[in-house]
Amino acid sequence: MKTTLLMCPPTEYRIAYDINPWMSRNVGLATPDAARQWERLVEVLQCAGDVEIVTLDPQPHVPDLVFTANAALISGKLAITSTFRHPQRRREQPHYRSALARHGFATTSLQQTFFEGAGDALFDRVRPILYAGYGWRSERAAALQLGETLPVRTLPLLLVDERFYHLDTALCALGSGHVMYYPDAFSPHALQQLRRSVEREYLIEIALEDALAFACNSVEIGDALVMHHASPALRSRLNAAGYRIFQTDLGEFHKAGGSAKCLTLRLDDGPAQASAAA
Ligand code: ARG
Repeated sequence: MKTTLLMCPPTEYRIAYDINPWMSRNVGLATPDAARQWERLVEVLQCAGDVEIVTLDPQPHVPDLVFTANAALISGKLAITSTFRHPQRRREQPHYRSALARHGFATTSLQQTFFEGAGDALFDRVRPILYAGYGWRSERAAALQLGETLPVRTLPLLLVDERFYHLDTALCALGSGHVMYYPDAFSPHALQQLRRSVEREYLIEIALEDALAFACNSVEIGDALVMHHASPALRSRLNAAGYRIFQTDLGEFHKAGGSAKCLTLRLDDGPAQASAAA
């Protein structure tokens, strides 16, 4: 099955402001290799499987527009567009909204709450669950509204480590039914909820080293996982789960706190059907 990804070339990308701990130490730093790394990512995604890339035109004054995962949460033909916490990123909203409308999506947004799209809301691929991260960017109220809007059980997960400020930096729900995650990014209650919802043999805990290399921020294309880097131990665990691993350097984007998955928005997304549960 074909995977369609929305991506934005990094011609306007820079570290222009400081809204996360990665950016704090990199504001103003050059990113000379960003274009090459982004093009290489596109090539790797296309080598990994059947992928169509839909591009969004870069715009001046919105350097983080490259992180299209934050555009919206897609469910079928509905796009629940983001309401960013930081004013610097709020300027991206109209660009995402019009691009998604142009591609045939009905757009809507949540009321009176911050919500940062597929950065903080991830569908389980086999269980009818939506993992909804909150704390640093999206709010708990967003998770609750999503639960009222979509035919899934929403699992609100409080994020407690500021380096992993979006859920997609600390958790990755895979098509095999496995859920890869970095435990210390979550509150004790969130961990308990996660461990109650996913059978133990389907949970893949990753180490800090892999979390800091943004291994959870992987793009799944069929049986391939495209990411910046994984340790040999994590690679063999993912191989055992049935995945081929494709690594590609995304260091220029790590300077802004994002990696492979943040640079893509899957346009063919939505809740898993209960009958497909593992
Ligand atoms: N600089 C961006 C921000 O702080 C990075 C966004 C990363 N996106 C993601 N889906 N995790 O908002």
